[in-house]
Parts: sequence; structure tokens; C-alpha cells
Amino acid sequence: MRNIAVIGVGYVGLVTGACFADLGNRIVCLDINAEKIARLKEGEMPIYEPGLEELVERNVKAGRLFFTTSYAEALQEAEFAFIAVGTPEGVDGEADLQYVRMAAESIAEVLDHPLVIVNKSTVPVGTGDWVADIIREKRGDSAEFAVVSCPEFLREGSAIRDFMNPDRVVLGSLAPEAAEQVAQLHLPLRSTIVITDLRTAEMIKYASNAFLATRISFINEIANICEALGADVKEVASGMGYDKRIGHAFLDAGVGYGGSCFPKDVKALAHMADTHGRHPQLLAAVMEINNDQRLQVVRKARELLGELGGKQVGILGLAFKPNTDDMREAPATSIIERLLAAGVKVRAYDPVAMENARRILTGVELCPDPYTLAEGCDLLIVVTEWNEFKHLDLVRIKKLMRHAAIVDGRNIYDPPTVRSLGFAYRGIGRGYNGEGNND
Ligand code: UDX
Repeated sequence: MRNIAVIGVGYVGLVTGACFADLGNRIVCLDINAEKIARLKEGEMPIYEPGLEELVERNVKAGRLFFTTSYAEALQEAEFAFIAVGTPEGVDGEADLQYVRMAAESIAEVLDHPLVIVNKSTVPVGTGDWVADIIREKRGDSAEFAVVSCPEFLREGSAIRDFMNPDRVVLGSLAPEAAEQVAQLHLPLRSTIVITDLRTAEMIKYASNAFLATRISFINEIANICEALGADVKEVASGMGYDKRIGHAFLDAGVGYGGSCFPKDVKALAHMADTHGRHPQLLAAVMEINNDQRLQVVRKARELLGELGGKQVGILGLAFKPNTDDMREAPATSIIERLLAAGVKVRAYDPVAMENARRILTGVELCPDPYTLAEGCDLLIVVTEWNEFKHLDLVRIKKLMRHAAIVDGRNIYDPPTVRSLGFAYRGIGRGYNGEGNND
């Protein structure tokens, strides 16, 4: 049993703290947001993540998981301090490290025993050295600490599973014994543990996310070419994926990637390249394709409806992906903006993200379910592939709509089936769209 402090109770910090507690460690989670900590002490989750509430409840009851706003309390017994604060996009795409600086300075102020500081947040290459410099500036060389980079590879919606079953744990440090201590924490996961230097570990994280984003922009470009050439991108991706060098994952064409990671991490990596004299040609193309892709559905809406002004359109799905309430960089937001600008009356529904939607969206009628949403609509656009949209009663939906048309931004429907029900249909890369069909 080890004593661990986790700084930041967001999507990464809270999952990391709760999972380490579940492995038998004693965890104190800290956040400077007193309201979040108060809600957690009441058993209320500040984020939606499947399985998290019961994981937190179980470990609080077992006396392994605590919450505080005090650094002195969090670090009192700590042998490790995981920094899991946000690193939002800053100017020109550079990662904003103000919260990392605040955490490092606060740790330095109370540091009075040997401590291994673990950077869990996604931070630009070189940040580990920078954190060490901040602490040394405040505490001089008397302070006994080491910095280890331990980037997270958690996907929202499956974060607990991803933590407990990692493909690999990556550790980077200039102090091998500190990296070894952090490796020991992860032994119960029985995963491959890669130990390298700080900068390489930080780069593994960025390169991994940038590669996954590149796969998505690649398949979206292929989808656009498929439409012109009459091929079906879902079949193309399937045929590609049997090649072990390619695989099937992350080849789902759609409205593009969103979320709090891919958009900012690709921009941050491109910014690092640019500021170090290397032009990120491919990363620039990945971002350009992704920005354009989400507007494809608006183009398709125009194809199906002609003039958009005065029409009513229902948006199915607002979260940036299923199984999360997160709307950060969600494709739905920019799609809705374009539709509103074109004079469309927009309705929207999401199974989980409605609280965030009420905060973020203006000028949109939020509906309690897909059927209410469909009433009087000229078009439905699938933006997030929630399972409940895959089994909608489309016969009932058609009767509720003023005009039966669907733009399927995540290719969840079978085009011939939907067309046979009398819908005008557009998918993403699903063969010739509009030619030779009854659209
Ligand atoms: C991602 C990485 O997967 C994870 O390893 C990292 O730690 C954090 O960033 P996350 O952003 O939570 O995780 O979601 P992910 O499932 O990767 O999806 C990211 C975006 O890509 C979503 O908008 C999703 O809709 C989109 N996507 C994903 C596609 O458009 N096509 C795909 O095939 C896969």
C-alpha cells in the first residue's frame, strides 16, 4: 500500500485516483475547485464516466480515497504526487501550462519529505524539466524530489477499463530509481512498462494521439474520395483492417474527431514543431481535413433540402463521442453554428450531455428524446453514434417528420434499408451519394 496524492479531479485525475485506490493504495485527491471537492465528499461525480461513481463510493467507504483542497493535507503522507490538471489549448495552439505551474509551485511550498512527482497531464516535450526547475527555484537544492512523466492513454467513456487494462504504461525520468518506484505502482496491472527518458515519454504521448488523429483524417479523406468514385468506405476500412499492419481500430469515417485531447494535442505538437524550425506538414493536413469534415454534413443537408433557411433540423447527439457528456470541441457545436447561420431552426437531443448543452448552446431547442425531436423536422443529422440511435423506430420517426431525410454523420444506418423506408439519405463515404438513388 503506497500513499499517493492526485492533483486535479477532472476526467484523468479522478479516474487515476479512484483506480489506484482500488488497487489498495491510500489516495488523497486534491482540487482547488472547492465546489467540486464538496460534491465529491457528498458522493456526487463532477464528470460522467461509466462505472466511476461506484468505484469512488467503494473506495471512500473502504477508507482508501479522500478529497481535499489543502496541499498540506494532500501531501502530508504522500510518497507520490500525480499532477493531473488540465493543459488546455493556449495561444497559437500552444498548451497552456498555468495549472501545471500552479500545482508545481503549491507542491514546492509544502514539500518537506522525499516525493516523486508524476506528470500525468499531457504536457509539451520538456515540461518535466520545467516542473523540476520550478520546484528547485522555490526550494533550492535541499528539496528531495524527482519528476517522472507517466502520460495517460485513457479514452473518455472507457477510462476505468483503459486504466486497469493498459496496452502499455509509459514512464520517463532522469532518475531511473524514481521511474522504478512508479513502475512498482503499476505492477498489479500486469502490463508492459516502457521506461525511457522524460522527453521521449512526453513525445510518445503526443505522437500516439497525433497518429490516431491522423488515421481518422485519413479515413475521412478516403470517405470523400469514395463518394466521388462510388465505393463504400465502411467496406474499404473493413478490407484494409485485416492487414495486421493496419488493423481495424480508428478507421471509422464520420464528422471528424473532437474532445479535449486530439484537437489540442495535434495543435500543440504542430506548435512545438513550428517553434523548433520543423514545418508539421502532415499534422497541418490532419487538422485541415478534420475542420472541413464536420462541415460535410452541412453540405449534405443542402443537397437534400436545397435552401436551408426556414427549415427545421434535428441533431441526434451532442457529446463528442458516445458514453460521455463531454462537449469540448464536439463536432455538433460547429455544425449547429453553421445551420443557425443559414437560418435553420435547430433542435437537439443527447442521452447524457444535455446539462452541458444547456450551458454551451444558444438558439437551439433541446428536446427530451429523439421522437419529440423529430416532430416537424425536415432533416435529422446523426452527429454522435449513441447506441440508442441505432435502434430508433424509423417508421415512427418518418411519420413525425415533415420531410423524411437523414444525414448520417457516423454511418450508423444501412443506406438501402433507410431508403426503402422512404427516407432521403446521405452517409459519409457510402458510395455515390445522390446519384442513382431515390434521394
Ligand atoms: C483519446 C485517445 O484515444 C486516448 O488514448 C487519449 O488518452 C485521449 O484522447 P478520447 O479523446 O477520449 O481519447 O476519445 P477517442 O475514443 O479516442 O475519440 C476521439 C475522437 O475521435 C472522437 O470525437 C471520436 O468520435 C473520433 N473518432 C474515433 C472517429 O471519428 N473515428 C474513429 O474511428 C475513432
